[in-house]
Amino acid sequence: MEIKAVILAAGKGTRFKSEKPKVLHDILGKPMIFYVKEAVSWINPQEIIFVVGHKKEEVIKTINCENCKFVEQKQQLGTGDAVKQTIPLWEDFDGYILIINGDNPLIKGQTLKDAVNYLNALIEYEGRNINEKNYKNREIAGLILTATLENPYGYGRIIKGQAGVVQKIVEEKDASFAERNIKEVNSGIYFVYAPYLKEALNKLQNKNAQKEYYLTDIVEILAQEGKKFYTFNVEDPTQIIGVNDRWQLAEAEKILKNQFMYFWAINGVTFHIPESIWIEFDANFGKDVEIFQGTAIKGNTEIDDGAVIYENCVIKNSKIGKNVKIYPNSVIEDSIIEDNAQVGPFARIRNSSVIGKNVSIGNFVEVKNSKIGENTAAKHLSYLGDAEIGKNVNIGAGTITCNYDGFNKHKTVIKDEAFIGSDTMLVAPITIGKHAYTGSGSVITKDVPDKALAVERAKLKIIENYAERKKRKNEKSC
Ligand code: UD1
Ligand code: CA
Repeated sequence: MEIKAVILAAGKGTRFKSEKPKVLHDILGKPMIFYVKEAVSWINPQEIIFVVGHKKEEVIKTINCENCKFVEQKQQLGTGDAVKQTIPLWEDFDGYILIINGDNPLIKGQTLKDAVNYLNALIEYEGRNINEKNYKNREIAGLILTATLENPYGYGRIIKGQAGVVQKIVEEKDASFAERNIKEVNSGIYFVYAPYLKEALNKLQNKNAQKEYYLTDIVEILAQEGKKFYTFNVEDPTQIIGVNDRWQLAEAEKILKNQFMYFWAINGVTFHIPESIWIEFDANFGKDVEIFQGTAIKGNTEIDDGAVIYENCVIKNSKIGKNVKIYPNSVIEDSIIEDNAQVGPFARIRNSSVIGKNVSIGNFVEVKNSKIGENTAAKHLSYLGDAEIGKNVNIGAGTITCNYDGFNKHKTVIKDEAFIGSDTMLVAPITIGKHAYTGSGSVITKDVPDKALAVERAKLKIIENYAERKKRKNEKSC
């Protein structure tokens, strides 16, 4: 079956009370509209057409899709009016148009596939009755995806006639008391035979409670001509949730996060207190990974086999190697932590840093835009910025790379096996040679050759009996 898709994304999303278009609000690190497009791509439509309007430049930029088409709806006069704008793109198309609301992020691609198969089966079946070539799909106007909800409030209700054929869809605001009791609701996802769709769209009127051109009215228009809409009931009602306000956004996010976590848990990841953990769409996990409570895994992050991320960490756009341990309250962004390294507690790694194998980064250590070689240790209270540090280096407690002169950032190079004494200030640009030493408390302003010791300290003075002398002096002055 030939299919083209239309995704509705022109609305303001008034109920969001937001400057940002509704469909651009994020769910687990991706805009709502992204999930709709993902699901639609499962059925390989010939074309995906977005209807945009409110802040359209922002919406188009975010969707960022080369093969997609964008059609503008200048005034948001309703969902019917929105689809009408797309007619020029498919008016001679002899196939089905999938129409889907942009605020429907929980729909699964598999469900759309199942619906296409069902529609195909219906066409086959009806075709047998009609017994006329090329008439096969003419009588079936389309398929409406529906769900049965305990609380159908806010959704269009499905009014059915004989043999499960839909007569019309009634919006909440236009429904009679009896109609409001109907629990089968319109998902906002439909497959409609293109020539009939065009005909019905051109007949739409806005005589209803909201003075809008409702897409849903095409059902009644076509039903009156004897053209049939059937329903495809989506078993899992959460899939059809329409996100109209921020509380529904939170609900949708909760449901999706649970689905992601379930998937990873089944594939060998332990989540301790999953409700407290945040993971996003682009997070990937190996086997035997453990994530403790309060941790957030954000953006494009990969966590390899056997890694353990303890409590309250934030890891964003980073790669965490095999058997790495990230201790509590550490923040890692845009960086790579190689196999068997240890980080934290209370460490911060950022700006394209690479922490080598078996490295140990301890508490209150910040690493920025630096490469740290294998087996090196910086265990306490340090700032390592714009540094290239070799293998088997020891960075003493309190070491600071003084990388900024008020105008520019400068590089620090520390070669293999160097020993940086505690509280060393390394004033960059500077190179510390292989197996060189710096004395504790030194301010190092010149390069240190291999194997040398650099020490910069005032001579130590010991004043004997100082306390006694100070006391006497004090008594005298009283
Ligand atoms: C719509 C359906 C309702 C269904 C529900 C499912 C209609 C009239 N009603 O109601 O039967 O149960 O979805 O979630 O269709 N949009 C435009 N241009 C417009 C108006 C809306 O592009 O002029 C877009 C919105 O951006 C949104 C989508 O269409 O993505 C749906 O619009 P919305 O106002 O949320 O419709 P509902 O009231 O939820
Ligand atoms: Ca909606």
